Amino acid sequence: MPDSVVPSPLTSQDAAPPSRLINLVRGWPAPSLFPIPLLQRATAATLANPDIANSAFAYGPDPGHEPLRRALAEWLTSFYGPAGGGSKISYKRIAITGGASQSLGNILSVYSDPEWTRKIWLVAPAYFLSFRIFEDAGFANFGDRQKMVAVPEDDEGVDVESLRRHIEECEKRAQKEGDHTPVVKPSRPWAKIYKHIIYCVPTFANPSSRTTSLKRRKELVRCARDFDALVVCDDVYDFLSFPTNEKQMEKQQGGTDKASLPRPVDLDRTIDGGTERAGADGFGNVVSNGSFTKIGGPGLRCGWIEGTEKFAFGIAETGTTKSGGAPSQLVSTFMADLLETGDLQNHVLSVLQPAYARRFFKMVSAIEKYLLPLGATMPQSERQVAGGYFIWISLPGHLLSTDVVQRAKIDQNVVVAPGEMFQIPGDESEVNRFQRQIRLCFAWEDEDQLSEGVMRLGKVIQELLKEAPQKGLQHKTESSQNRESVEKFW
Ligand SMILES: Cc1ncc(COP(=O)(O)O)c(C=O)c1O
Repeated sequence: MPDSVVPSPLTSQDAAPPSRLINLVRGWPAPSLFPIPLLQRATAATLANPDIANSAFAYGPDPGHEPLRRALAEWLTSFYGPAGGGSKISYKRIAITGGASQSLGNILSVYSDPEWTRKIWLVAPAYFLSFRIFEDAGFANFGDRQKMVAVPEDDEGVDVESLRRHIEECEKRAQKEGDHTPVVKPSRPWAKIYKHIIYCVPTFANPSSRTTSLKRRKELVRCARDFDALVVCDDVYDFLSFPTNEKQMEKQQGGTDKASLPRPVDLDRTIDGGTERAGADGFGNVVSNGSFTKIGGPGLRCGWIEGTEKFAFGIAETGTTKSGGAPSQLVSTFMADLLETGDLQNHVLSVLQPAYARRFFKMVSAIEKYLLPLGATMPQSERQVAGGYFIWISLPGHLLSTDVVQRAKIDQNVVVAPGEMFQIPGDESEVNRFQRQIRLCFAWEDEDQLSEGVMRLGKVIQELLKEAPQKGLQHKTESSQNRESVEKFW
């Protein structure tokens, strides 16, 4: 990297690392954005009503607290309505969960089989904490047993062509070998076992920040239908959406109460005859995994799934619910109040969307100032709508995230997530390599530290480029060491 293109704000290297740690790893909501006063009101109102209070402390009905299912159905209808085809979402399509993580475990326990389900296709880079959930369900990769497979993304989102090709090959191989796959789980009338599971975050993905286009979403649904696949969509960031044009955001004076794209689950309901088309079994091919974590707080441990009525019923029939009742019953009663009064929708519109937009603009302008001139790049930089919590950065030229992450911590006291963290464990394919990427989170760290954090990172990148301008650095840090070094910050 010639000195002439190095931006002036990065000219000096500090002698000692700054004392204030800046954490751009942690993917949690900023505590200052928790809706605590709203919950204080909602809990008081709920518990003051003996009927609701009694049901709040009892075992929850299997599909979850009905008022919350109804309130969610209304909100989802209004938020996705125009994009999702406009028709009303029935509350019977919704089951209450303990949040997206617990829900993924339940989806797999009801709708997958570690033997009969051929593969878990994970759009990579993938949300790394999902890996253990798949492994716990019997899909760990080891030796010849390759159950979790990376599927690439490009600038339009999920690369469905590649996904389709891989599934086709997998099917052909299975048929050639005689397809004697056993089913380990008993047959249950409320459930089915899908042949394939596809896992993705279609909107403001964690970690890649990409949004999959409408065309690709439709292709994804059709691909799933062709191969008896279930697409599990973690739609957990959809509500945190804002225009990428700062002026437009200011003009809007608040956020947007309409999604710009339908979810794959909306498309499954509506396109080519929908889930009730002739010959379909009524379970559908997509489930939307929703959560109050990002718009309320992770401690709420409450979320929902939306799928066909038949699919939602199967989730409600899971063994843990039959024994323990619907997850998060007490919190469900509070969340129902927050939605019925409109408090949560208002909070999203007037607090969260503007706050995350501000944070995003700060981080992006710092990236433009300190990182892009060094040769770093961001995906989908031309898009009109952004959101979620993350920005995915490709490092300039030969730099490796392991070295950048290590040096950023030591020299500049800033922590960022290395791309390798989001590689599917045990998949050695080329599409599963992210050694030249890092993920930055703008949700957790104090807003006034975001620009400073990116500037410090710029200094590190600049120094590393100076140290090895042509041939690249010796790969000094093992990626497992690297993971351990940031683990305590997520
Ligand atoms: C894609 C994705 N799915 C699931 C989760 C976890 O959601 P929950 O807190 O609802 O379990 C996260 C949180 O970071 C996430 O980014």
